[in-house]
Amino acid sequence: MFTVYVASEEELRAKLVGAVKNIPGAVLDGSSTELRQALDECAAENPGVLLIDDILLTQNVGLYEQIARVPYPVVVLASPTDAGAARRALAIKAKDFVSLDAWTQDLASILSRTATPLEGEVHRDGRVIVVFSSKGGVGKTTLSVNLGIALAKASRQPVAIVDLDIQFGDVAPMVGDAPMVTLYDLVKGSSRVDQDTVKRALKRVANNVYVLAAPNNPEEADDIRADHIVQILQLLRETHGYVIVDTAPGYTDINVAAFDFSDMILTVCTPDVVTLRTVGQALQVFYDGFHYTQDKVRIVLNRSGSKTGVETTDIAHVLQSQISYQLPSDGAYPVRAANEGAPLISQFPDSALSRAIQHMAVELVQETEGRQRAVSKKSSKIPFLARLMRKPQ
Ligand SMILES: Nc1ncnc2c1ncn2[C@@H]1O[C@H](COP(=O)(O)OP(=O)(O)OP(=O)(O)O)[C@@H](O)[C@H]1O
Ligand SMILES: [Mg+2]
Repeated sequence: MFTVYVASEEELRAKLVGAVKNIPGAVLDGSSTELRQALDECAAENPGVLLIDDILLTQNVGLYEQIARVPYPVVVLASPTDAGAARRALAIKAKDFVSLDAWTQDLASILSRTATPLEGEVHRDGRVIVVFSSKGGVGKTTLSVNLGIALAKASRQPVAIVDLDIQFGDVAPMVGDAPMVTLYDLVKGSSRVDQDTVKRALKRVANNVYVLAAPNNPEEADDIRADHIVQILQLLRETHGYVIVDTAPGYTDINVAAFDFSDMILTVCTPDVVTLRTVGQALQVFYDGFHYTQDKVRIVLNRSGSKTGVETTDIAHVLQSQISYQLPSDGAYPVRAANEGAPLISQFPDSALSRAIQHMAVELVQETEGRQRAVSKKSSKIPFLARLMRKPQ
């Protein structure tokens, strides 16, 4: 998998963006009609490849030196008959060239071989982590979204967050984005889901983080079946290092499909007697009914340390399980971040909860991958000037 940023004049930009979205393994990182803006955004995102329309180069001579120094590969889209195009491509140290008169055929192969794959490209099936609780309002979605972002950062691998709270899911508003495509759009009228459709439904919400949103209307949830979920999770784990699944309370067919498929179920509880009672019952179903191990079902104590009169040691005793992760109360920060339509970890990275979730992500990554991670190597680049200089047939 690799990301692509497109910098092009308006008319061509829309076509290029559409084409990039159809390239297998490619994910659109962003696009702009302003070269300076493109470079600023790429400085933050470090795309797998930046595709620049030569027209923008002719208008921004002053930026050549800056482009020549960028750490990611740059590909130029230019007319093969324009003699100046080769000079400009050389000046910006472009890695490859797409001919304007044949770009619809050539774009996919040239970008695929030029782009740097996402760092830590997934060489194994990604880890599927379900975030569950028997109780509402305990912090499942807050944990799902922020753990997803923290895992992408800690693992440097793409992460997918799937909103399986299919009636009232709120992952999308929590990341500030009204989704265009949802789980419902993905499955309606079809029993099979393929990699390309899943890819198109994903919404990029942060660096290396993609959301598959819940349906926009509760009645659309009826069309989503357990076998859809299994297919979607399988497809997502092939292209993402981690797949986080936010859920609604309950043992619905869909939840059970996700539980069975997952590598880990983070069961969220809070330090109050009512929640503890239901979480205790849920754990019994997991251990005794489904025969999951304590390694698979892990307890996350959210709002730990709150002065509720229920101590952490009492909770572990009542649940007869150790508490794997403790997340502190974070005052108004989570609500403020949600009201601002931004994930807590992006908005308040130093808040107590953000730091605890980042710590949790690092632990999970170390557990999954060990401390040694493979670093992807850039593929060797082919000389392109000959093609650029070639006269059209
Ligand atoms: N550690 C925390 N400190 C302070 N506020 C928190 C904390 N965790 C969650 N919250 C707040 O609690 C509320 C419920 O959180 P969230 O929506 O994540 O729970 P949920 O379990 O997904 O709820 P639902 O069952 O409705 O989907 C939100 O307003 C959130 O900002
Ligand atoms: Mg929720």
